[in-house]
Amino acid sequence: MQEIENKIVCGNTFALVKEIGDNSIDLIVCDGPYGVTNKAWDKISSVQEFNLRLIEIFSKKLKKGGVLYLFGKHDSVDFVDYRKYLNLKSRIIWYLPSRLSQGRINYTNNYDTIFYFVKGEKARCFNLDSIRVPQLVELEHRFRCERVPSVVNGRYGKTRFDERGKNPGDVWGDIKALTYRSKELADRRALNTVQKPELLIERLVLASSCEGDLVLDPFAGVGTCPVVCKRLSRRFIAFEVNASFVAVATRRLERLNRPLDKQHSLELAHGF
Ligand SMILES: C[S@@+](CC[C@H](N)C(=O)[O-])C[C@H]1O[C@@H](n2cnc3c(N)ncnc32)[C@H](O)[C@@H]1O
Repeated sequence: MQEIENKIVCGNTFALVKEIGDNSIDLIVCDGPYGVTNKAWDKISSVQEFNLRLIEIFSKKLKKGGVLYLFGKHDSVDFVDYRKYLNLKSRIIWYLPSRLSQGRINYTNNYDTIFYFVKGEKARCFNLDSIRVPQLVELEHRFRCERVPSVVNGRYGKTRFDERGKNPGDVWGDIKALTYRSKELADRRALNTVQKPELLIERLVLASSCEGDLVLDPFAGVGTCPVVCKRLSRRFIAFEVNASFVAVATRRLERLNRPLDKQHSLELAHGF
């Protein structure tokens, strides 16, 4: 298995995944077809059946307590029974307020869903301290509440401020989608339907893996997850069927070897 580690392997995931041993993966970040665009790779007859097949395959590859993040739309796992394979713990909403295309006959869709599955009851790790976010909005609200006495006992409350920040929760509005102007955009063809922001993938990798862990990215696109893994000292296995995306992803990985670009990449990821 080591021959396929820490590089982007070009080919079909359903064939390549057989090379991975059972119970060997700590984390899977699966950003594959959503079944909503007319791109050839995104055309599938039933996204729910497709995802169920992935869940079944990936559940065997995960260690006990391993995590699968599955990207999709609100209904991507509806009406299929995934419960015998993995436990669905959260549906994370990645809020995308600036979608240009506006619905005419329905509400405009303003979010992607990231389904958070765990193999077994409890995740091997959930590194909350690595993914805390500022709690300014709540603070404002609580300070307002402190000026009003409790209806129960007439006392005034006291706000405790946690310097470390708060749990990001399951609605993420703080990470912007990429645009044509994003420095991080690896290739124009990857805009909108392909490339995810490094910050988004970084939050998943930081929360659900530790240094040295093995991460699987079965639909690597232009390599965002491998880049994040390499920067955060995780091992990875990555598959991608489109050879030109493999070339872009490989170049992104190679750039990380150069010290200046490593700094540049960090700056991009943290929005300096
Ligand atoms: C949404 S993109 C992933 C983007 C990636 N997260 C990134 O940030 O670059 C999905 C990718 O899956 C690839 N893909 C689709 N079906 C595949 C298959 N059966 N095997 C391997 N790759 C596949 C597509 O070519 C596409 O690049």
